[in-house]
Amino acid sequence: MKFFLDTANLDEIKQAASMGILDGVTTNPTLVSREQGKFKDMLVGICEVVNGPVSAEVVSTDFDGMMKEAHELAALHPNIHVKIPMLREGMKAVKALSSEGIRTNVTLCFSASQALLAAKAGATFMSPFVGRVDDISGVGMDIITDIRTIYDNYGFETEILAASLRHPVHVVEAALIGADIATMPYKVFDQLFDHPLTDIGLQRFLDDWEKVKDRVS
Ligand code: E4P
Repeated sequence: MKFFLDTANLDEIKQAASMGILDGVTTNPTLVSREQGKFKDMLVGICEVVNGPVSAEVVSTDFDGMMKEAHELAALHPNIHVKIPMLREGMKAVKALSSEGIRTNVTLCFSASQALLAAKAGATFMSPFVGRVDDISGVGMDIITDIRTIYDNYGFETEILAASLRHPVHVVEAALIGADIATMPYKVFDQLFDHPLTDIGLQRFLDDWEKVKDRVS
C-alpha cells in the first residue's frame, strides 16, 4: 500500500518524507486555503520534496475550464496529477486528459457507480471519501470493498486512493480490503506509529539495561 499525505503544509510533508515512507501527496482547495503563498509556487515546492504523485485540483466545473486548468497544472512539474471532480463534464475531461498522457485523480467519489465511471474514463487514481460517508452515518469503507471487487472483476488499472481517512483503523481497514493508496492527514500518519505497549516495553528494557550496563564490556 502506498502512503500519501493529505495536506498542503510543506513542513508536514518534509517531516513525513524524511522517514522515507512517503509515496505522494494529495491537496484540495480547502487544504491550500490553510497555507500561505501562491498556489502554483506551493505545488512546485511540494513536488520538489516528494518523489511521487502530487494531486492538484481544478476549480472549474465545465469541460473547457477544467482542460485549461489541467494543462497549466500538469505543466508545473512531472509529479503533478490533476484532480478532477466527479461530474459529467469532469469525466469527459478525464477521458481527454488520459488520452494526452496527463495523469488524473477523480475526487469527490462516494459510490461504486462513480468509481466505475472514473475507471472507464481512464483515471489514474479515483478517490472515495470514506470519512465523509461515515459522518452522515454511512459505512464509507463498504464503498472501498465494492470498488476493489469491481476493479478486479474487469482488470481496471485505475488505482483506488482511499481518502478522507480520519484515524489509523481507517488505514488498516483500507489496507485489508486492498486499496492501492491511503491518503491521510499528518496527524493520522503520526498516530500509525504509536502503541502504549511499545512505550511501556521500551521503558522496561531501558530500565533493566541500567542494571546490567556496567557488565557490558
Ligand atoms: C482527498 O484527496 C481529500 O483531499 C481528502 O481526503 C478529504 O478529506 P476530508 O473529508 O477529511 O476533508
